[in-house]
Amino acid sequence: MTEAKTKRIGVLTSGGDCAGLNAAIRAVVHRAIQGYGWEVLGIRDGTMGLMERPLMVEELSLRIFTGNILRMGGTILGTVNKGDPFAYPLPDGTVEDRSGAFVEGFRELGLDALIGIGGDGSMKILSRLARQGGFQFIGIPKTIDNDVPLTEFSVGFATAVTAAVEALDRLQPTAASHQRVMILEVMGRDAGHIALNAGIAGGADAILIPEIPVRLEKVAEKIKSLREQGRNHALVICAESVKLASGEAVYQKHADGEIRYGGVGHVLGARIEHLTGAETRVTVLGHVQRGGVPGSRDRIIASAFGVHAVDLVAQGKSMCMVAWQNREVVDVALDDVITRNRCVNLDGALVRTARGLGISLGD
Ligand code: F6P
Repeated sequence: MTEAKTKRIGVLTSGGDCAGLNAAIRAVVHRAIQGYGWEVLGIRDGTMGLMERPLMVEELSLRIFTGNILRMGGTILGTVNKGDPFAYPLPDGTVEDRSGAFVEGFRELGLDALIGIGGDGSMKILSRLARQGGFQFIGIPKTIDNDVPLTEFSVGFATAVTAAVEALDRLQPTAASHQRVMILEVMGRDAGHIALNAGIAGGADAILIPEIPVRLEKVAEKIKSLREQGRNHALVICAESVKLASGEAVYQKHADGEIRYGGVGHVLGARIEHLTGAETRVTVLGHVQRGGVPGSRDRIIASAFGVHAVDLVAQGKSMCMVAWQNREVVDVALDDVITRNRCVNLDGALVRTARGLGISLGD
């Protein structure tokens, strides 16, 4: 009988952080060490860990996971959501291809496989790196935006929705006390999943998502009809990427040149105030949705994803992503993931539910 070869695998987190990343790292380490007797190297700061010299890696042993890491937000490995190795930004504004350094770093460490925990952008970059380096790669989907195709849930989404629902729970009593319209702007990049889910769970009167062009007069009509029914306040949740009537989205430019959505709630708030005459206040929830203690659903799927990803490495599979489908953890081809998108399905159950509840979707 021949003994299975001991493997050395790498794990990294890439893109914006979210709750549940540590639960996924923990599951990878537990399964690899306890299930297969492998060695696990944690790669620091996403792809940076293998592009920088000296390499930024650390061995992940079971000793690190003393009991609290499962419960912690953020990522113990660090992450970056800029610095694509194929177009790495330099201070002078130009870009450089550093993918070679990443692949060399991978080889230098003697890694047999890479498990990358990331969103759709990271899946594209990491699968391209794996193809270039000819190494075994398995992806684990994470993002509060829940816009990774072919998986019902990505790690981090459920906790972000909980944060947004809690915000609505806190806004409702103050809205009622002051007879105000409260606008809550949530994240989600180009998809309205957080706004739609949180809006239903948090009792919003209007949910504005990028998938549906917003007609503010419709939102104003809804608010006026609530008043006629005797309600003295209203809750509106809007996704950060909602477009204005002109088709424009609202962005913020940061000092490092990065452009991010943010601020549309204030623009909508001013217009709603004008159209309804109602006193209106705006809350931009921002990164509160990304941090915090992961909820049980995120811990569960992160754990299932981590274990399954390691099992796929053991089975010799590559270029696939673990996914949650029909109450099961499955694997899907990365090529199918990176060529699709996953915005809100306008014919889906949640849009029907929102409409059935009389929530205005701004159309
Ligand atoms: O993709 C996750 C996300 O939180 C988006 O919802 C948001 O638009 C973006 O990242 C914010 O990025 P940053 O952390 O760079 O501000």
